[in-house]
Amino acid sequence: MLHQEAVIVQELSLAERALRIFSKFLKSHLELEDQLLLPAHETITAEKSWRTLIYQEEHKKLLSLLSNMREMMSKPPEPHDMRRWVIEFIDYERTFKNVMEHHEEREEKGLLMELDNHLDTDDLHSLITQCHLAWQESYDSMREDIEDIRSQLP
Ligand SMILES: [Fe+2]
Ligand SMILES: [Fe+2]
Repeated sequence: MLHQEAVIVQELSLAERALRIFSKFLKSHLELEDQLLLPAHETITAEKSWRTLIYQEEHKKLLSLLSNMREMMSKPPEPHDMRRWVIEFIDYERTFKNVMEHHEEREEKGLLMELDNHLDTDDLHSLITQCHLAWQESYDSMREDIEDIRSQLP
């Protein structure tokens, strides 16, 4: 994660920019799921591993952890506290990553598998295309910024 590389070398303004990009990316990913995948999941009447609500709650949890991370980044430490702050911050981000990994695993085993099994091929195809286009669009809009940050890191 580019953002953490910047934290480690104490380039906090680059780290902040990278986190902002990540945050935009994650938000558009979650929105897409909330607007397309979860409503489709809700229509499945067969037995599901987890209710649609669980995914929605986890999205909220991720957004709230992310907003705490951005809050921490917005209050950088005094230079003499910097190394300890970096450790604490990276630790906090570990929590975020755990929730994120757990959530993705749940989606793979539940949500995606169930959509795949129960939606008809046309609907599924249209969902996949829409997700793919949206993903590409948000990546394209951030690519230059990402390259710029990368080029400024030592
Ligand atoms: Fe999700
Ligand atoms: Fe996801």
